[in-house]
Amino acid sequence: METVVSGMRPTGKLHLGHFHGALTNWLRLQEQYQCYFFVADWHALTTDYASPQGIRQNTLEMVMDWLSVGIDPAKSVIFRQSCVKEHAELHLLYSMITPVSWLERNPTYKEQMKEIVGKDLSTYGFLGYPVLQAADITIYKANKVPVGVDQAPHVELTREIVRRFNQLYRPIFPEPEVLLTEAQKVPGLDGRKMSKSYGNAVFLSDPPQEIDAKISRMMTDPARVKRTDPGEPEKCPAFQLHKIYCTPEEIETVTRGCRTAAIGCLECKKIMIKHVIADLAPVRERRALYEKNPQAVEDLLAKGNHAAQQKAGTTLAEVRETLGL
Ligand code: TRP
Ligand code: SF4
Repeated sequence: METVVSGMRPTGKLHLGHFHGALTNWLRLQEQYQCYFFVADWHALTTDYASPQGIRQNTLEMVMDWLSVGIDPAKSVIFRQSCVKEHAELHLLYSMITPVSWLERNPTYKEQMKEIVGKDLSTYGFLGYPVLQAADITIYKANKVPVGVDQAPHVELTREIVRRFNQLYRPIFPEPEVLLTEAQKVPGLDGRKMSKSYGNAVFLSDPPQEIDAKISRMMTDPARVKRTDPGEPEKCPAFQLHKIYCTPEEIETVTRGCRTAAIGCLECKKIMIKHVIADLAPVRERRALYEKNPQAVEDLLAKGNHAAQQKAGTTLAEVRETLGL
């Protein structure tokens, strides 16, 4: 069976954007591959080194969401990066063979340096971010890496590091391939990309009343100022959710109703909201169990950490042997 590796920074509670992006993908992959899914808490420190306080709680919240949507510890190895120190050792060894120029020309690096204001990112760790990611991926000899398009350059860099290692020493690593996760089709409540930091997210753990309240005030086609103004669903952020959650008949009704002003926006949204709530019901139920018993989550993580460490340790032994260390 081929191996898949993917990580997520511990951002705390996950939202519908995560669900319809990464998580749906992970659920599918765990049926076909040996998957390693991990909390990239060291990566979180590359940008948030000044405020590490939330990391532990955010890790727990995120892993609870993974488990609640069905990421299954019986099928996938679920672990926390900082608990598998071998990643750090391989990162160090890769840092020896990675030219600084490769890192400086990384588009994600250049973009984030410009875009993230208020944080001093002129650190060694931030520049070396993709080197750590290369270690995360290759330590499990991954064949496939499911990531969003913004992360593709990092996987490309991983491939370059692998080629260099294999050429310099001996070919022990496969070149991992990107499995591109479809771009986010879930807009946030304000029509921008759904993101915790924008305050426009519907969380997987939101109670039904909150889901209802949030989506009820979600942005719609701005052309519908008055109830009698017709609209165009394709210009309506809420309609993106209809497309995900509603039946073809409902979509048909809503589309016609919107274009003829036969239906009001609230009524229209209610048709979709009930599906969102129903869809999340089992997730919420499972989450309630984990919330009552966070120790169970810690125990699952401990098992995953151990399994990851076994595999990582085997790879590292090979690497040390190769380098005469
Ligand atoms: N850099 C990724 C992100 O910010 C997280 C990540 C770290 C990752 N290591 C990884 C993803 C290895 C895939 C494989 O989303
Ligand atoms: Fe959007 Fe429905 Fe309102 Fe049309 S009627 S703008 S699809 S919420």
